[in-house]
Amino acid sequence: MMPELSLHIMDIMENGIAAGAWHLDLFIEVDTAEDRLKITVVDNGKGMDTEMIEKAMDPLFSTKKGKGWGLGIPLFMQTAETCDGGFSIESKEGSYTRVSVEMRLSHIDRPPLGNITDTLLSLIVGHPEIDLYVMVKKDGTKYEFDTRIIREILGDVSLATPQVLGALEEDIQSGLKELDLTD
Ligand SMILES: Nc1ncnc2c1ncn2[C@@H]1O[C@H](COP(=O)(O)OP(=O)(O)O)[C@@H](O)[C@H]1O
Ligand SMILES: [Mg+2]
Repeated sequence: MMPELSLHIMDIMENGIAAGAWHLDLFIEVDTAEDRLKITVVDNGKGMDTEMIEKAMDPLFSTKKGKGWGLGIPLFMQTAETCDGGFSIESKEGSYTRVSVEMRLSHIDRPPLGNITDTLLSLIVGHPEIDLYVMVKKDGTKYEFDTRIIREILGDVSLATPQVLGALEEDIQSGLKELDLTD
């Protein structure tokens, strides 16, 4: 099991980018009354057919095949299942992939979210031209940001400049703090 959910999130988002996506959505939803945590990543990459989805979810296949087929998805599935939850992949070839994971928020084995701020910033630094929409919701309150809106304000300035990244870092940090999601 990976020590932090943010590492799983990074892996799933990188999968989308590797599949040629230029738009990514990340939803993190916490429902304290229901005691559930749900993480969804949608990408507009090349997608997978049913057979590929099955292979991607199969740890034996992944390890055997070696290069190009890792354990990212099986590991995340295992974490979800251990934490009284589940995992689903929905995809359409040439169109999109939606990976969704949910688990019991208070499960003793649930990894902490980890550093979501750094995860998002390193994604932006690595791929500044990608459109990224992030929505983090806890019960009735939500925090969101959209790089398309930020880019409109910036004009020709890249997202990956120190000043912009500094401002983004502050925005994400305070947004998550307001939601009390810093575990
Ligand atoms: N979002 C996605 N879009 C298209 N193909 C994907 C996506 N996610 C995973 N895959 C396919 O499933 C394989 C396994 O993914 P993963 O378990 O994360 O291991 P790795 O990324 O190390 O190959 C990938 O190599 C890729 O072929
Ligand atoms: Mg991967």
